[in-house]
Amino acid sequence: MTYVEAATAPLRKTGQIKLHGAEGFTGMRRAGQLVAEVLDLLVEHVKPGVATEELDRLVFEFALDHGALPATLMYRGYAKSICTSINHVVCHGIPNEKPLREGDIVNIDVTLVLDGWHGDSSRMYTVGEIPRRAERLVDVTYEAMMAGIHAIRPEATIGDIGAAIQAVVEPNHMSVVRDFCGHGVGRLFHDEPNVVHVGHGGEGPVLKPGMFFTVEPMINLGRPHVKVLSDGWTAVTRDRSLSAQFEHSVAVTDEGVEIFTLSPKGLHKPPYGLRA
Ligand code: MF3
Ligand code: CO
Ligand code: CO
Repeated sequence: MTYVEAATAPLRKTGQIKLHGAEGFTGMRRAGQLVAEVLDLLVEHVKPGVATEELDRLVFEFALDHGALPATLMYRGYAKSICTSINHVVCHGIPNEKPLREGDIVNIDVTLVLDGWHGDSSRMYTVGEIPRRAERLVDVTYEAMMAGIHAIRPEATIGDIGAAIQAVVEPNHMSVVRDFCGHGVGRLFHDEPNVVHVGHGGEGPVLKPGMFFTVEPMINLGRPHVKVLSDGWTAVTRDRSLSAQFEHSVAVTDEGVEIFTLSPKGLHKPPYGLRA
């Protein structure tokens, strides 16, 4: 894997990893914070009886009100502003008119483009009281994402990230999904490198300051295998076990790592505290 200065690279996938400068950091901080703000806003809206389509509309309007666009809208034929993945849905669930039900867990994944920069982040939300096993899955998934992020520093590798995630998940008898990866992010939605969420320390591309990518592990209570439904998007666990995911957009820095999509309100994971 080779590297290229992002500022002078073509605006497409080139098979090289882009290294960003100050302008990229400024752009990604703004886009990342906007996504984090709308994920914060969603907390009070996720409750029994609310349709995921209403959440989709809320994010669409928030984006336009803030001079941004949802990156998923019209992306490869996807027609919504967010992905809403409920219970055994692993990722890419399409918002619809069905009301959320007490006990559901739902991942909401938002990517906003602000001044050409993509902020990509997702969190889990709980609908009312949830079963204890769902609570454990959500906790382990968050811990796994953060362990992966904390493995990031110059000269570490993509394999170090995957190994750190696996080391949290597998002792808890849960599994890491192989079929979907994190990805380079910046002026492109999905760029090099692929960020695999399993791996061996020291393997894979070496991390360099200025690399931007997502860490977004999908963790299943049962087996890791997924299938995509006939709508062409919705990925579900083959064994119908519960699945959870968190996602941050991050940068490799000289010191280690910077998270672009941290919650300004400290709403990192459920329980998010008192609801109105
Ligand atoms: N936001 C997702 C990701 O983390 C991608 C969603 S693409 C869509 O990469 F088309 F399904 F919305
Ligand atoms: Co992503
Ligand atoms: Co995403």
